[in-house]
Amino acid sequence: MTTVDPASFPPEFQFGVATSAYQIEGAWDADGKGPSIWDTFSQTPGKVHGDIAGDVACDSYHRYRDDIRLMSQLGVDSHRLSLSWPRLLPDGTGRVNPAGVDYYDRVIDELLEAGIRPNVTLYHWDLPQALEDRGGWPNRDVADWFAEYAHLAFDRFGDRVQRWATLNEPIALWVGYALGGFAPGRRDERAGRQAMHNALLAHGRGVQAFRDAGSPGEIGIVLDVWKRHPATPSAADRALADEGDDDGFRFFLDALRGGGYSWRIRERLTSAGTLPDIRDGDQELIEQPIDYLGLNVYSRIVVDSRAGDATASPASEPDQERHHGGNFLDNGLEFYPRSVYDALEMVREDYGWTGPVFITENGMADGPRADRDPLDDTERIDYVSGFLSWIARAIADGHDVRGYYLWSLMDNYEWSAGFSARYGIAAVDPVTLDRIPKKSAHWYRDLIAAHRAAH
Ligand code: NOJ
Repeated sequence: MTTVDPASFPPEFQFGVATSAYQIEGAWDADGKGPSIWDTFSQTPGKVHGDIAGDVACDSYHRYRDDIRLMSQLGVDSHRLSLSWPRLLPDGTGRVNPAGVDYYDRVIDELLEAGIRPNVTLYHWDLPQALEDRGGWPNRDVADWFAEYAHLAFDRFGDRVQRWATLNEPIALWVGYALGGFAPGRRDERAGRQAMHNALLAHGRGVQAFRDAGSPGEIGIVLDVWKRHPATPSAADRALADEGDDDGFRFFLDALRGGGYSWRIRERLTSAGTLPDIRDGDQELIEQPIDYLGLNVYSRIVVDSRAGDATASPASEPDQERHHGGNFLDNGLEFYPRSVYDALEMVREDYGWTGPVFITENGMADGPRADRDPLDDTERIDYVSGFLSWIARAIADGHDVRGYYLWSLMDNYEWSAGFSARYGIAAVDPVTLDRIPKKSAHWYRDLIAAHRAAH
């Protein structure tokens, strides 16, 4: 087991916890909120695990004070949360829902009173259904719709929120529009690619809106990095790894960091007939400067052209064993804490990013072992310690990492996996919805306290 040295993080380093609106709020149709694509999707039979929708989730709409109390007990410096677009704008554009504004006013004020800095993501996957009905993310107009929403958020909350993100993991649009695994459940690769491009346009418009609003804080974007590693040095494995990276984080980073989509991506999408409609001025809009980069890092993916992706199955072949040492978590994911260091190196080396970085998500789902005490999540402590140690090493090597957000504060609604994947450092009683700290919560609290004491 790795031990983390709290003194290896600079005094101003922020330890936080992350959540998102749809995954915790519930109250899906309360007080004037409009439905989102996730309401529609999760309420459709056959789409999510156990056919349980996120209608109630953790009921944070009514219990946010409990959440903030828990965060105070942990002593976190910051909370990463997202706003529900359809709670603020039930039709996506136009009419504002005063109860929605009031809710986030209360959450933000209560956080600030507790000395916890809100870090707010505008879009964490819950597009208003009304906008899906107008074509959703594949419709270029989404950039205008998003700009309107962003303006509203900066106008109402910009006086108190210092750190913003436009989008969380826009790759989810591929899963939602091309693969059908997430809301809205479409299976159209062209639409999926266009949605990804349009998301970058929306991001650009969001950054513009932020600068126009003259808000004092900072704005960035949150990308997930699951770097592919070839299982063998063969050309076929290398090509497979490159293809996976291109389809994931490189699609976004190539455009965000200037220059636009690489020839390799363009060539492949052209031959697949899925190159999005890219217009004059798009690239300039997308590549506007941001203030920080948010990275979500959980593991890596080992690709083997003979076997396909070997992400979640224990290695049996010698080549694969050499790569991941049979080091699998109970939940089947490879434990590879170096992935966070690799991600930081990748953005610096490949994209010249030397600005501030926040690790905006890292965490693990509990394994399925029935014999285990659900509150004894020693494995999570080891997992987080491993990642934090690599972050400390990256800082020592000159990476400007400003903070770390553990995903997640509590067990919550894990999208199409429903409640079957539990990422929380606190459990949520399924009947009373009480928040019950797991062993990792106590450990995280002690680590944060030790970090304060060390400086
Ligand atoms: C990615 C997403 O941002 C978040 O919503 C999700 O719950 C976690 N990572 C875990 O899968």
